[in-house]
Amino acid sequence: MFEKLESLAPDAIIGIMALFREDQDPRKVDLSVGVFQDEQGHTPVMACVKQAEREIIDAQTTKTYVGIAGNADFNRGMEALLLGADHPALRDARVATIQSPGGSGGLCVAGHLIHRAAPDTRVCLSNPSWPNHLPLLRLAGLKLELYPYYDPAKHVIDFGAMTACLENLGHGDVVLIHGCCHNPCGADLSPDQWRQLAELCERRGVTPFIDLAYQGLSEDLDADAYGARLMAELLPEVVIVASCSKNFGLYRERVGSVSVISSNAERSRAVATNLANVARGIYSMPPDHGAAIAGRVLHSPELRAQWVEELAGVRNRINGLRGLLVAKLAERGAPRDFSFIANERGMFSFLGISKEQVVRLREEFHVYMLESSRINLAGINNANVDYVADSIVAVL
Ligand SMILES: Cc1ncc(COP(=O)(O)O)c(C=O)c1O
Repeated sequence: MFEKLESLAPDAIIGIMALFREDQDPRKVDLSVGVFQDEQGHTPVMACVKQAEREIIDAQTTKTYVGIAGNADFNRGMEALLLGADHPALRDARVATIQSPGGSGGLCVAGHLIHRAAPDTRVCLSNPSWPNHLPLLRLAGLKLELYPYYDPAKHVIDFGAMTACLENLGHGDVVLIHGCCHNPCGADLSPDQWRQLAELCERRGVTPFIDLAYQGLSEDLDADAYGARLMAELLPEVVIVASCSKNFGLYRERVGSVSVISSNAERSRAVATNLANVARGIYSMPPDHGAAIAGRVLHSPELRAQWVEELAGVRNRINGLRGLLVAKLAERGAPRDFSFIANERGMFSFLGISKEQVVRLREEFHVYMLESSRINLAGINNANVDYVADSIVAVL
């Protein structure tokens, strides 16, 4: 049976990670990984997470299933986090939320739900987008298309080309939008652009599907949900998938959610049963531990305050590194203006250099990034920033 299966080439990012591990040069720097790192290059467990974890383990008396929709406290906490506690969609009981195994599991459940509701739906993704969007949503059976998003020459969103393309969508189509901290380009929609996009979706009957994997890593928890909240206010139907991997640092615990806003409370109840039924058919029950932690942090005033502070530390570190790298490159007289990096948000930006320059950085300077020149700013620290800037200037 399996003799027909051929070995697949390793994922590009896994290949780069393996090259980095094998590299013995003490100057090596990894800007390819997709996780937050502190000044010591470590991805720490937040103190609020540790505390919640201790409390949960002490109080836990059973390991029986929690239920298909997952932890109810977590789901209510996520709804309030995403939409704001007094959002009209919540007041009108138009929001159905299910806990999911990470943002990836949430995208998978949402994809299957959309396909079940409307099998001919086209889902339009930004070009570029997170590479996993494509296989995850394709596996759900959805037809995928791309809309122009980032102009790599000008380092800005090509909003004119984006909206011109989306004008071709019609009733029943879906547009997937990164809620904030666009992965991979770091260029986010302004409030005015969100408004224009909401107006376009309303006029064309397009459903927004918002992937919010970095809430709190750009400006703050509320500002980063601006687009999702606006869409949920102005449009009858919106899908929001969230991940707690980055903002809680709960990567390996697999914590995320899917929230579907429907036009009325009755539809919302039907959606909730379908969300549970889709999840039942894929993995049956979500993992408990991570969502129990996030739920506890969201509900405890003390732990939440601590989380908000720790998350600000993560955000300020990344935004500070953006400014630092730009300043170091300018100090060295880099023959290009890299100031766009300071204006972008989240962990990622494209340096905008060629594949050959990326390879030279890796082979001659031991500085690793994706072939597209996407870097994770959090891989930079005070000890390596001069070396990184010298190396980039050397290959330009
Ligand atoms: C844009 C985007 N969406 C979703 C995810 C899903 O993350 P996870 O499945 O680890 O929660 C990621 C992770 O890198 C991401 O960058």
